[in-house]
Amino acid sequence: MKDLKFIAQQLRKPAGDFAATIAGKMNVGNKPLYDLTFRSMNLHDGDTVLEIGFGNGFHFTEFLSLKNDLVLYGIDYSEEMVNQATTENMSLIKSGRLFLTEGSSNQLPYENETFDKVFCNMVIYFWEDPGEHLKEIYRVLKPGGKFYTGMRTKDSMLELPFTEFGFKLHTVDSWISIVNKMGFEVSDVYRKKDPAFDDFDKKVQLESVCIESRKITP
Ligand SMILES: C[S@@+](CC[C@H](N)C(=O)[O-])C[C@H]1O[C@@H](n2cnc3c(N)ncnc32)[C@H](O)[C@@H]1O
Repeated sequence: MKDLKFIAQQLRKPAGDFAATIAGKMNVGNKPLYDLTFRSMNLHDGDTVLEIGFGNGFHFTEFLSLKNDLVLYGIDYSEEMVNQATTENMSLIKSGRLFLTEGSSNQLPYENETFDKVFCNMVIYFWEDPGEHLKEIYRVLKPGGKFYTGMRTKDSMLELPFTEFGFKLHTVDSWISIVNKMGFEVSDVYRKKDPAFDDFDKKVQLESVCIESRKITP
């Protein structure tokens, strides 16, 4: 088994030979969180949406089938993830409904007020200064646009032994307070317990959380 520090590094930024393996594990482990986030998003026909940190994009087909004429942009700073997601979703890209970019969320390569909704799942732990990412998300959202943070409760994250290696953990309340300070108003918090699984020699049950916030314009 790979050591915990290596797993933590791969989750932060999948790279090299192990990137596809870690992406496969994330796809299984984070499916309950994606289900919760998609249900929470109150998508409308024709929404233009950005996902930050999409991993290998296993969920793009499902996402784009949730409503008519959705357009999804994705940004991830892992070259391997962008390459894999591009290869596996070529028909969606060719159809003009999916646009993928390699880059970081603290410097989003999009015009002001482009998106109806922005979401990210299991990404905020890697933001050293969340304010610089939230500022960018605020900028690219349309007035009144929504930002959805998909995460696990802090207690859940502490069940996972690799999170001690460089994960910046947040409670639901501490994250709400950060988001509210950056020009958003948290409007709802959705929670659901994931199915339990056996890992690291014990039974683990995570709790998924999706925090809905609205861009406030002065
Ligand atoms: C733990 S994985 C989660 C992947 C997927 N969202 C999921 O829930 O299964 C974190 C992903 O976010 C990406 N990522 C982390 N920080 C990022 C940043 N600042 N900008 C863009 N992508 C980032 C990583 O490359 C990785 O693909």
